Amino acid sequence: MASYVDEPGPGAQKRRHAEEPTSVSEQEDRQGGHDSDVRLASDFHTDNGHRFGNFPNYYSFHNVEDRLDLLTKDLISPMLDECGDDFTIADIGCNDGTLTKALHEKVVTVVASRGLTTRVRTLGLELDPQLVARARSTTFTPGNGSEICFEDVDATDEARVSALASSFLGPSSTRINLVTCFSTTMWVHVNHGDATFLAFLDHLKRLSQRLVIEPQPWRCYRSAATRLRRMGKSELVCYEAVAARSDKVIENFIVRAVCGFSGSAAEAAATTTTASAAEATMATMTATKKTTKKTTVAGPEAEFGCVVLSDAAGSWERKVLLFERGICVD
Ligand SMILES: C[S@@+](CC[C@H](N)C(=O)[O-])C[C@H]1O[C@@H](n2cnc3c(N)ncnc32)[C@H](O)[C@@H]1O
Repeated sequence: MASYVDEPGPGAQKRRHAEEPTSVSEQEDRQGGHDSDVRLASDFHTDNGHRFGNFPNYYSFHNVEDRLDLLTKDLISPMLDECGDDFTIADIGCNDGTLTKALHEKVVTVVASRGLTTRVRTLGLELDPQLVARARSTTFTPGNGSEICFEDVDATDEARVSALASSFLGPSSTRINLVTCFSTTMWVHVNHGDATFLAFLDHLKRLSQRLVIEPQPWRCYRSAATRLRRMGKSELVCYEAVAARSDKVIENFIVRAVCGFSGSAAEAAATTTTASAAEATMATMTATKKTTKKTTVAGPEAEFGCVVLSDAAGSWERKVLLFERGICVD
């Protein structure tokens, strides 16, 4: 997913992640933070999106097509073979729905290109009600009898998310075919802490047949904290307490929570109180198979396997974790 800003050329700065503006003023300019017309009234907006990631103008500087390019037709197509009449998608932390709609369209296009009659049904979930209102109000044609809807909810509220998911799925189905969570895990992590973050991942896993997570690297956590500090705002409540404080450990933390071979999020929390503990645990539980474009990870007792989709260099600049039920690696 191209959630990074390319700065090509010799000696150029590293590509920056979507969450990582160079300075508060640059970010505020991008977000319209100095423009009273853009500034919104609810509590969510007192920090211009810097506390929860609910940036009001997020898609004016993030190209969604690039960000979906790792989810190829070849990847989507087999998912359609396994679903019934409907293919269901839930996008967690969907902001104003721009990426959600592009993903929906992409799947509809694959359905059409294969001459299938599958109905694509998409649910976007978002913390910020004003972004949800915008997602609903923007004209969009879902295509081919498909449908898309948006709800405001704190995705860590398991009871409400479960209720929304079951009313979306109806009685004939218990799992959503594809759950996605792009550039949102960090915001859950820094606002709710390790234990709730693990419970959140555990819940996503229970809801999904397949789960796609685009995690944020550690430097985005640091930048988010720094930006608020520079703005003179209060700290992100759980930033200091977050146990996973490096890219690899964040990835391990997420993989373990979803694939966790002993299954329990509480147990995972207990073993990830330090970065080295998490790394040691992952080292013993994983079998890793590398190709230029993907790495498959699974534990011997894993309910889910994880395919790490990334660029040829395997960098965090373009990385998505695709969790699928029943993947097993020799
Ligand atoms: C950085 S944006 C990413 C938007 C979109 N997923 C994308 O990648 O293009 C993160 C979004 O997650 C939302 N978010 C943060 N915490 C959330 C929570 N607990 N429940 C639901 N949404 C949340 C924010 O409001 C924001 O819109």
